[in-house]
Amino acid sequence: MIWAHKDLIGIQDLGKDDIENIFDVATSFKEISTREIKKIPPLRGKTVVLLFYEPSTRTRMSFEIAAKRLSADTIALSASGSSFEKGETILDAARNIMAMAPDCIVIRYPYAGSPKLLARALPCSIINAGDGFHEHPTQALLDIYSMREHFGYIDGLNVLIVGDIMHSRVARSNVYGLKKFGANVTLVAPKTLLPLGTDEWGVDVCTEFDSVIPDADVIMMVRIQKERMQQRFFSDEREYAFFYGLDKSRVEQMKEGAIIMHPGPLNRGVEITYDATESARSVILNQVENGLAIRMALLYLFLGGGKRVD
Ligand code: CP
Repeated sequence: MIWAHKDLIGIQDLGKDDIENIFDVATSFKEISTREIKKIPPLRGKTVVLLFYEPSTRTRMSFEIAAKRLSADTIALSASGSSFEKGETILDAARNIMAMAPDCIVIRYPYAGSPKLLARALPCSIINAGDGFHEHPTQALLDIYSMREHFGYIDGLNVLIVGDIMHSRVARSNVYGLKKFGANVTLVAPKTLLPLGTDEWGVDVCTEFDSVIPDADVIMMVRIQKERMQQRFFSDEREYAFFYGLDKSRVEQMKEGAIIMHPGPLNRGVEITYDATESARSVILNQVENGLAIRMALLYLFLGGGKRVD
């Protein structure tokens, strides 16, 4: 298998064939997590640095477990307790880490562009684990993989992405990826939570959630990102939940076979209720399970499991 990339900055940089390659490798790795000894040797001697300057549960854990399942060594650093607190820039920190010869840096950072900055400056692979509002490519890969696993295809699926699109790197990466595979994507949000420029994304936009539920194959709820809001974008959470929350009555409007997704973490009672997350339509924990296989595949490919052509 030829793997032509040094870094993963965004879904926009990947071709459909690249994504198919990642999915094939992920599928071959899924079974490892069911073994009694959940470890194989391909990345023995490799070092993966997890640089998470923003909170994370799923992404950080799954990269760390993925690296360990492939026998790589991992070291994790967060903003708290690092020299970031003394004013060190991300580039200076990464250059110093590079002096210790890691093979890959997985970075989550609150501002867009930092993974690209590191990718240009450093010889090791850089994987973007979420940068500001820009992209969260590994989340989109696991989301699209989960849809394809469930339906067997993506082309022609009607996918609603509902919620705080403005601040959502998950929404952006999913749109870029889903469009490559021929899905029909509709963004559903109040006007105040829709970013400028969606007319160039090749998507439909809708402010009336109830009107589009019956035709949807996938309803992907995205989180209200209070930590990124410097002003009020809606009156209060109860009003938001009334118009845009996925609850029992909206789940009952979904068509047969349609599924519910959420990247996590959940704001229960705001964008999604307990009834919706626990419904038989929810594949939220399948997303997490597939996230591990996708990240194993990415580490394998970026750290030399695929023959790279630079
Ligand atoms: N979906 C996601 O990125 O979750 P974490 O913030 O917990 O990593």
